[in-house]
Amino acid sequence: MAGPITQLPISQLPVSQLPISQLEHEQVVIRTGRRSGLPVIVAVHSTALGPAAGGCRIWRYAAWQDGLADALRLSSAMTAKFAAAGLACGGGKTVVALPEGFELTAERRREALLDVADVVESLGGLYATGPDVGTSPQDMAVIGERTEYVFCKPAELGGSADSSPATADGAVAALRAVGAVLRGTTTLAGLRVAVVGLGNVGGRVATTLAAQGAELVLSDIDPERRALAGELGAVWAEPGSALTAEVDVVVPAALGGVLTEELVPRLRCRAVAGPANNQLAGPEVADLLAARGIVWVPDYIVSAGGVIHAIAVELDKQSEDEALERVLGIEGTVADLLAAARTQGGTPVAAAEELVRARLGAARSRGVVGEPRRHDRRAAVAQP
Ligand code: PHE
Repeated sequence: MAGPITQLPISQLPVSQLPISQLEHEQVVIRTGRRSGLPVIVAVHSTALGPAAGGCRIWRYAAWQDGLADALRLSSAMTAKFAAAGLACGGGKTVVALPEGFELTAERRREALLDVADVVESLGGLYATGPDVGTSPQDMAVIGERTEYVFCKPAELGGSADSSPATADGAVAALRAVGAVLRGTTTLAGLRVAVVGLGNVGGRVATTLAAQGAELVLSDIDPERRALAGELGAVWAEPGSALTAEVDVVVPAALGGVLTEELVPRLRCRAVAGPANNQLAGPEVADLLAARGIVWVPDYIVSAGGVIHAIAVELDKQSEDEALERVLGIEGTVADLLAAARTQGGTPVAAAEELVRARLGAARSRGVVGEPRRHDRRAAVAQP
């Protein structure tokens, strides 16, 4: 028998505001992991273009609802990422929400990963996971013990391994196109760039840019990464001042939400283009950037290299060279968006949204929506 409703609706909970007023996701699974006891959230935003994919984020949140909010936002960005990249994949994301102060020992990490694997497997191919902030190919190997719907396992287990080099290569390709509209040349020599976040992706972006003669300001919350700035002959800055450095392009390459209403008036760059997911603190920030004449290339365009590489190698069975060529195609995508924005008098964001809408609309008119679409990896490996 139903008891009295004593709880506030989730949208009124003080701890967290959900990012969307209307649920536009096909499916969201929220489960307390039976081994880890941690909140495991899998959001399948859309399978309109194909079975969904998206990384598994293991991260600290003030409340699990914040993890849910992140999963909802990030999965919808994955739909846009795949659509804009022209891939037959839908958007999804997994979040394991670590409570404040929770110590993730190796044993608990393994438990959490197996819990993730159970949820992914229960979706029967509707969604496949991959690495993201807080997870690695080794973690994908653990998930792979219980489900085959996982990208980027280590090469010895038949996966395409670390996706971050491809993400970095795609981001550098995007920077060529951005540099071309700012300076009339795609060569990176002399381009002034601030890279904020020097992890697996940002570190490689910085190294590649330095090798091509770009002038760099580098920054990370971890002061140990300062050594890289020394090696590359770059200027080191604290993250706050790197974002407002006087450069051609700021490259956010760490966590999301860095582009805030407060930051935009202080920016001294001509463009912002980087691989961090969900850079805007809110959608209105894109308009503020445009009003200041700062070119912002949506993160889901710049960061697509990792998924393009994983899909090319694992699903389309392409060689590394072929995969790289597709990743480098991001330069053309960005150039097209910037050109479309210029001719239509709009922003690159509007042009990117239009592209995404058109691709999703075309899938809908082909009538492929309705029945959720599933990965069919089993058939592929079951050949005698
Ligand atoms: N972290 C990747 C992204 O946000 C997720 C991913 C990589 C998913 C590779 C599948 C394969 O794009």
